[in-house]
Amino acid sequence: MLVVMTVLGIETSCDETAASVVVDGRRLLSNVVASSMDLHAKYGGVVPEIAARSHIESIMPVVQQALNEAFPALTSTNSVSDGVLAIAERRAKQWAEVDAIAVTYGAGLGGSLLVGVLTARTLAIVYDKPLYAINHVEAHLYANFLTETALPSYVLPSVQPVFPSIGLIVSGGHSQLVHLRNHFDYTLLGQTNDDAIGEAFDKVAKIIGLPYPGGPSVSRKALDGNPQAFSLPKARMAGKYDFSFSGLKTAVLRLAQQQIGEDFTFPSSGLADRLNESQKADIAASFQRVAVETVVDKTVLAYEEYGPRSVIIGGGVASSPELRRQLSQRLESRMGSPILYTAPKLCTDNGAMIATLGCFKALHGQPTVDPYSLDIAPNLSM
Ligand code: KG4
Ligand code: ZN
Repeated sequence: MLVVMTVLGIETSCDETAASVVVDGRRLLSNVVASSMDLHAKYGGVVPEIAARSHIESIMPVVQQALNEAFPALTSTNSVSDGVLAIAERRAKQWAEVDAIAVTYGAGLGGSLLVGVLTARTLAIVYDKPLYAINHVEAHLYANFLTETALPSYVLPSVQPVFPSIGLIVSGGHSQLVHLRNHFDYTLLGQTNDDAIGEAFDKVAKIIGLPYPGGPSVSRKALDGNPQAFSLPKARMAGKYDFSFSGLKTAVLRLAQQQIGEDFTFPSSGLADRLNESQKADIAASFQRVAVETVVDKTVLAYEEYGPRSVIIGGGVASSPELRRQLSQRLESRMGSPILYTAPKLCTDNGAMIATLGCFKALHGQPTVDPYSLDIAPNLSM
């Protein structure tokens, strides 16, 4: 029997308000993202209260736009002159196309998660749709299952990942390595004991005076630097597959102080003005090499131990050219198939990955949640 499952995904765990419609966990119909990143840039990181407030303002327009883009035939081109009844009728037709709603309930910022979860709960009750609670970290890997779209400018893979697989999630909030035997059958091999890798990029960018978000700006600066200029420490962890980035971040701070001839008491806020451009580039390149090596070492180790049929890389840092370079050199060259990176437009937080995992939950008979009681889980683990 052919089952067609159309899912609306809602994501508000950090600073992106996002909604998307996906069919059968493979076809992307729409993907709308409103980011409050610009509002956070001057603080050098996400401010939870600002993020939550902008989710409140954006969530319903974003959901409506995701429905409009997914079902253009049911969308008015002239809604201003339309009567209220005509609009309501079209919206009802759009909702009739949606089989289920999926929403991120963790991990993430409490206030931000609340906006998405309460919106999804309300919509599930009002439109009488089954509701799936989605783990944001798990969902990052599911962006890789999208292989079809009519949306312009999306470059998607042609085939879906096969199991068993090793999954590496590297983002601003997470660094996790997972062994996936099948859908909903996986083991968390290891994770960061402190900062996430993207967070380390963001903090190092702040130390050397590069704009937020730090990942892309450190990447760009590193192009002018020597990755071997400085030797920085790689953390040795008790857990075979665990990571740590806080020691590396402190080592960068000490290195920057040393480069301008000051000791450890010199405030980090004054460093950027005293470092010259070549020092900044060498620090960026040396930090990036070691941070990326940290996750690549463990991914290679897991590949050797588990011999998976695929390796999936998800999360914002999956777009790092240095990560791709190291993985290609150390792992892809030994594999019979290419490493599967999340498509560039789906690397950072989005509703498509949430909707895709929602589709698989529905297609595999996973339990729905009660729309009257679903709670947020800010510290949810994999
Ligand atoms: O997945 P994401 O939107 O955030 C979380 O779910 O937490 O990823 C954002 C993170 C930021 O920390 C950003 O600095 C990092 O991904 N990032 C990068 C690159 N592009 C984005 N890190 C390293 N190199 C990049 N090219
Ligand atoms: Zn994320």
